Amino acid sequence: MTPEENERLTRIEGDASMGQLVRRFWMPFLTSADLPGPDCVPARVRLLGEDLVAFRDSGGTVGLIDPHCAHRRADLFYGRNEEGGLRCIYHGWKYDVTGQCVDAPTEPRESNFKYTVRLRSYPVQERAGVCWTYMGPPDLRPELPDFEWMHVPDGHRYVSWSTQECNFVQAIEGGIDTIHSVFLHSTLDSHRRLDEWKQRGQPNAGSGLSTQARYRTRDNPPRLSAADTDFGVLVGGCYPGGDGSDDYWRYNLFLMPFYTMPPGGADTKLCHAFVPLDDVTTARWSFTCNLQQPYGARDMASMRRGSGVHVELVPGTHVPLRNRSNDYLVDRDEQHTYTFTGITGTGEQDFAVQEGMGRIVERNAERLVMSDVGIVQMRRRLLKAADDLQEGVEPYSSSHGSAYHVHAGDALVPAGVARWFEDAKAKAALTPRW
Ligand code: FES
Ligand SMILES: [Fe+2]
Repeated sequence: MTPEENERLTRIEGDASMGQLVRRFWMPFLTSADLPGPDCVPARVRLLGEDLVAFRDSGGTVGLIDPHCAHRRADLFYGRNEEGGLRCIYHGWKYDVTGQCVDAPTEPRESNFKYTVRLRSYPVQERAGVCWTYMGPPDLRPELPDFEWMHVPDGHRYVSWSTQECNFVQAIEGGIDTIHSVFLHSTLDSHRRLDEWKQRGQPNAGSGLSTQARYRTRDNPPRLSAADTDFGVLVGGCYPGGDGSDDYWRYNLFLMPFYTMPPGGADTKLCHAFVPLDDVTTARWSFTCNLQQPYGARDMASMRRGSGVHVELVPGTHVPLRNRSNDYLVDRDEQHTYTFTGITGTGEQDFAVQEGMGRIVERNAERLVMSDVGIVQMRRRLLKAADDLQEGVEPYSSSHGSAYHVHAGDALVPAGVARWFEDAKAKAALTPRW
């Protein structure tokens, strides 16, 4: 990629074409739990380079408005959230969830002045424990993406988010880079394919190893392919079976404009959003659900502490506890003996490599290879959609929420099926159950 293409791909602030594309979609910006009840403490929000303040009013409705009071620009984050609005602590002007000034007590009582004052605001919807906003042209209001995890009962779902110190596109690239997990996220015995590990990987070893683990213990890096779909890009990794046995396919999804889905398990499904807070900071969201049964209290507690794809946070914040400023608390002894990285947490392992590239990676200095085919396809897809929008062509999926009703997965497919996504088994594995 040229440096100019890289700029077009990554910049979202101001009137950048990629920012305009992202503004055509609803975006998650807080969990419902971040604003736990009526008249609770407001929350600072940053999205696409804009600073905002969110609050839940006395009726439970969430507002997302300009954080600077219209009077003399005091910060409304410090405001009093009371009786149907957020009141500035400087001179008491008060705003409702639409940004409308509803009280200006410094003015004469009989004055209609307050009705002329309105702060910038964005519409908010709450769905599946998530607050969503739309920052594009009001007359082009899109549909919410209709994700499978939004349909499961509340106890089957856990949602979290943390900040990430790099541009959103390199975070997406990590999300669809299926091959990295056999390195970055692996243990040393599986990486070195030690005999005891291989033994456990034999089909009849009774080891209880997953299909994925069995195929990954063989000496066969996956062959990757990618295809455009209405929601984004499908990236497939094929682990050849050999000896007449089935091939094993795993597929990751990129969904416009910033979602990814890794395969997950048969009953547990994963989805990420990488929402640009500004050009060089991202909110990494994790939406996990269990299709079969509700999460137990122990599962919930451990996800809150950062298990699975969730990230352990500095209490009371969305800042990862293991972060760039403390070298992700890397344990070199553990790296020497047990794990590939010595870093605890898959999210934190991802942060170490993605943030370590620099806030915006210099893509002209990369050496791309065959295993990067999905990443190339995703970049092309994003750039084309941004270019199309400049020509007046709206992105399809922003007005078709049902395009998001898919999930990633894996399947055993007869050897030699090259167009894996046309195989019936692969198709069935992509179809959500909720
Ligand atoms: S600055 Fe807010 S009321 Fe004066
Ligand atoms: Fe990863």
